[in-house]
Order: sequence, then structure tokens, then C-alpha cells
Amino acid sequence: MRVAITGGTGFVGRHLAERLDPADTVIVSRRTGVAIDGVEALAEAFAGCDVVAHCAGINRELGDQTFDRVHVAGTRAVVEAARRAGVQRIVLLSFLRARPDCGSPYHESKWAAEELVRNSGLPHTVLKSGMIYGPGDHMVDHVTRAVRTWPVFATVGFRERTVRPVPVDDAVDVLLAAIEGRIPEPTVAVMGAEELPLGTAVRRIARVAGRRPLYLPVPVAAIRALAWVAERTMVVPLVARAQARMLAEGVSAPAPWAPEPPENIRPAHPFSAERIRAALPAGRFTRADFRRPRGRTTRDAGRARSLRVTGPSSPARG
Ligand SMILES: NC(=O)c1ccc[n+]([C@@H]2O[C@H](COP(=O)([O-])OP(=O)(O)OC[C@H]3O[C@@H](n4cnc5c(N)ncnc54)[C@H](OP(=O)(O)O)[C@@H]3O)[C@@H](O)[C@H]2O)c1
Repeated sequence: MRVAITGGTGFVGRHLAERLDPADTVIVSRRTGVAIDGVEALAEAFAGCDVVAHCAGINRELGDQTFDRVHVAGTRAVVEAARRAGVQRIVLLSFLRARPDCGSPYHESKWAAEELVRNSGLPHTVLKSGMIYGPGDHMVDHVTRAVRTWPVFATVGFRERTVRPVPVDDAVDVLLAAIEGRIPEPTVAVMGAEELPLGTAVRRIARVAGRRPLYLPVPVAAIRALAWVAERTMVVPLVARAQARMLAEGVSAPAPWAPEPPENIRPAHPFSAERIRAALPAGRFTRADFRRPRGRTTRDAGRARSLRVTGPSSPARG
């Protein structure tokens, strides 16, 4: 089976690519020369593919890379290109709480992408996933580097919200099941086996990283302000506004409700010290993580991300 992975150079996409035969895998991303808004180029890349795993996305807007352009126009182009290339199935990696009319452009645009796939007329699986962690991730990476850099860690709000972190290997198991058509429901919720308060998750990561920062609970509005500043000053923000919203409402239940995948496919592993250790990044935040005052381009952001991901870079076509 030949599979195209949009976002195949990103955190989840790379882990998925590692589990597939490189000779039958096509990696689509700006770094491999195909942006997801050009139908022609996408159709060419998808030629001969049986399945498209659509894992490309952003968690903050930068220049012309808006949520609307990447998630909505991008998914429309992916669907159209898949149709033209005769692709048999689309698998979309969406977010657990992606939904309409909730006031968050990230959530709303991911929902719009879900609807485009659901209404595509093509066989499909939409995976509404909670936070995924593992080597090269955003979650363990950011918390670890923050506690290594600063003695104080701001925690969100005064009411504990919960998360169900999904180990990336478990997430890839679900993606592979969807690619192979082993998930009967068109939309499923992917959640980790362990539900824990956000503060407990952060403390667990800090403990594995060997740090004991002072935890400072701050109102959600302060985290939102921090995210606003981080988006403007950091190459990859410590926390983006979309993530502030996720943290404020918790990431442990699908919205709207969706069934879980069949039991033998569901994520089964807890948020263990062993798995956290495997995801620990090297180092702390340095000046290189901050943008130059005149602002960088999306290319710089891509370059910074590519420095974080592990393993050899994938070819555009295996
Ligand atoms: N990580 C999680 O916990 C999680 C949970 C639920 C859902 N998701 C969703 O899953 C998707 C992937 O997440 P991730 O953590 O793997 O993100 P990531 O590490 O930031 O990777 C994003 C990927 O998308 C590609 N991309 C971004 N804009 C593009 C464009 N205009 N054209 C073509 N490719 C583009 C990037 O490659 P280039 O920069 O080279 O273009 C990269 O390969 C996102 O849509 C995210 O919303 C993630």
C-alpha cells in the first residue's frame, strides 16, 4: 500500500513515516517542496497513492500561514488532489476538542477541516486526538526546557483541568489502523490511557527532568498574555494562544462527543516516567529560540523545528 503523509516532516508525521516502508511512502511538506495549498502539486505527489494521511497543520499563525489557509484551504486542496489522484482513503489527524463556534480560530479551523473530509465523498477516518507526546514532541519538550531555563513555572488557572496524554507510538498505531481501514467509525476520539490533572503531568515531567521549580498558579488570562508574547518573540512559542485555550479547558474529553476506536486499537500506555524520559529533549531555551526583533519568516520557524526533530530527514519520495 502506498501512503502519502502530509506533514510527514513534523512530529507525528515523522513517527508515522518511520513505521511505513520508505519505498512506498511519500512525504509532503514545505520542506520537501510541496505546500498543502497547491492542488496540482499535491495531485502529482499523491499519484499512485492508495491513502493520504493528512497530518500537516500549525498551532499558531505566522505571516500568511494562517489557520484558515493551512487548515481549511489546505484541507480543501488535499481532498481535491486526493480525488484527482484516485486516492482510496483519507485519514485526518485532528484535535480532540476541534469544534465550531467556540471562539478559538485553531479549534474552529480544525473542525472545518474535519467537515471537509467528512463531506468529501471519499472513504475516510477523522482522528480527534488529545495531546501526543514522544521524542521530538512539543509538550514534554517545552515543559522540560522551561524548567531547565527558569526557576518558576506558571501553571494554568486555579481549577485543575485534566489531560490524557497519548504516547506517539500509540497514536501511530491508531493512524496505521485508520490507514488500513480497520476503524469502522468515520470519526473517533483518541485519548491516552491515563487521565491526570495538568499540574500533575507538568510535575511528573519536571521530576523526570531532575528539576523542582516553584509552581505559580496564574489566571488563564495571564497564560493567554504569555502566549501572545511568546508567539511574537519565540521561533517556536513556549505556549501559543491555541495551546493556552487547550490548557484552560483541559484535553481529556472529545468535543463534540465521538466514539473511541475499537478496544484493541486504543492507546494503552500510561504517562510513565520511562516514556517521558524517552521524550526528553537536550538542553534548555537559549537565545536561538527567540526571534530577531524584525521578525523571522516561516522558513526560519521551519528550520528551527527541523533542528528539533530526530533522525535523518525524509526524502520527498521514498
Ligand atoms: N502534536 C499533538 O499533540 C497533536 C494532537 C492533536 C492533533 N494534532 C494535529 O496534528 C497535526 C500535526 O501535529 P504535529 O505535532 O506533528 O505538528 P508539527 O510537528 O508542527 O508538524 C507540522 C507538519 O505540517 C507541515 N506543514 C505545516 N504547514 C504546512 C503547509 N502550509 N504546507 C505543507 N506542510 C505544512 C510541517 O512541515 P513544513 O514546516 O516543512 O511545511 C510539518 O511537517 C497538526 O495539524 C495538529 O493540529 C497534533
